[in-house]
Amino acid sequence: MKTRVTEMLGIRYPIVCGGMMRVGRAKLAAAVSNAGGLGIMTALSLPTPDEVIKEVVLCRTMTNQPIAVNLTILPTITPVPYEDYARAIVASGVKIVETAGNNPQRVMPIFKEAGIKVIHKCTSIRHAKKAETLGCDIISIDGFECAGHVGEDDVPNMLLLPLAAEQLSVPFIASGALGNGRQLAAALALGADGINMGTRFLATQECWIHDNVKQALVRGTELDTQIVFRRLRNSSRLFKNAITKELVALDADPTKTFEDMKHLAAGSRSPAVFEKGELDAGTWSSSGVMGLIHDVPTCAELIERIVADATEIIRKRLSAVVAD
Ligand SMILES: Cc1cc2nc3c(=O)[nH]c(=O)nc-3n(C[C@H](O)[C@H](O)[C@H](O)COP(=O)(O)O)c2cc1C
Repeated sequence: MKTRVTEMLGIRYPIVCGGMMRVGRAKLAAAVSNAGGLGIMTALSLPTPDEVIKEVVLCRTMTNQPIAVNLTILPTITPVPYEDYARAIVASGVKIVETAGNNPQRVMPIFKEAGIKVIHKCTSIRHAKKAETLGCDIISIDGFECAGHVGEDDVPNMLLLPLAAEQLSVPFIASGALGNGRQLAAALALGADGINMGTRFLATQECWIHDNVKQALVRGTELDTQIVFRRLRNSSRLFKNAITKELVALDADPTKTFEDMKHLAAGSRSPAVFEKGELDAGTWSSSGVMGLIHDVPTCAELIERIVADATEIIRKRLSAVVAD
């Protein structure tokens, strides 16, 4: 497949695996990149900037294809040395970075001086346009359907993508509840130059997480997510479980504050979920694409299937619609 994004990034297929806190490690990134997509490791999954360099070195032992690192800039209780992480990413030698969370302005000069292509992920057209003026090379449009931070505008991709096509000059990719070839064809039709997936890549062979989590994604449906932290304007789409139900109840009680909720959402709970497979032990991001996840393939099987299905839909179904 050939789009502005495959050309710019030097990848075979316009399919990106978005950064995933704790999950996005070298093995998954290498598997996605070897399969023709773009694999991304997540900088903040590593405890120090030096560890990011080691993770990239490890990934390089598994692939010679383009790989990238995600840097998610969010307000945190303990300050994160974002500039140090950005410099470590440059030192690691990767030529592509995914930024997300907040405006990437503070790290852009570090990446641009190193000739790095920056994919910025955002949930609104105004933030996408701002990122374009800051020099971002590709925008990843995370619709309201996405896992994790959905923003506060609640606009889904059926509308965001054609708006992006009208208003952006740089290439953009579609993100949010995507997992099959039908959706890749639709994203391309809506003006996107590719797709970004998170949840779908959780349920792959090369993703290191516990099989209980993968099987929960196979069993799950489009109804099995919940948005938490709405009142705090930090809305996040998570896998619906005992903890998200408790968080939503606390959020609905105006006498409760973040202090009453933060122990439930603490990152320290996630090893119990991802390593031990205890599905109710903590919160974890997931989207309604679960309704379309029916198996746990290798990344290569998944990507080849998506590309083959999209190609058939474009060549046969869509061309038949307009055939004379
Ligand atoms: C478990 C998990 C962790 C995630 N962590 C991050 C993160 O640290 N930074 C980030 O930019 N996006 C993160 N995301 C969002 C993904 O990169 C991607 O934008 C999103 O998953 C797309 O929606 P989808 O899951 O429906 O494909 C995470 C997603 C998941 C499923």
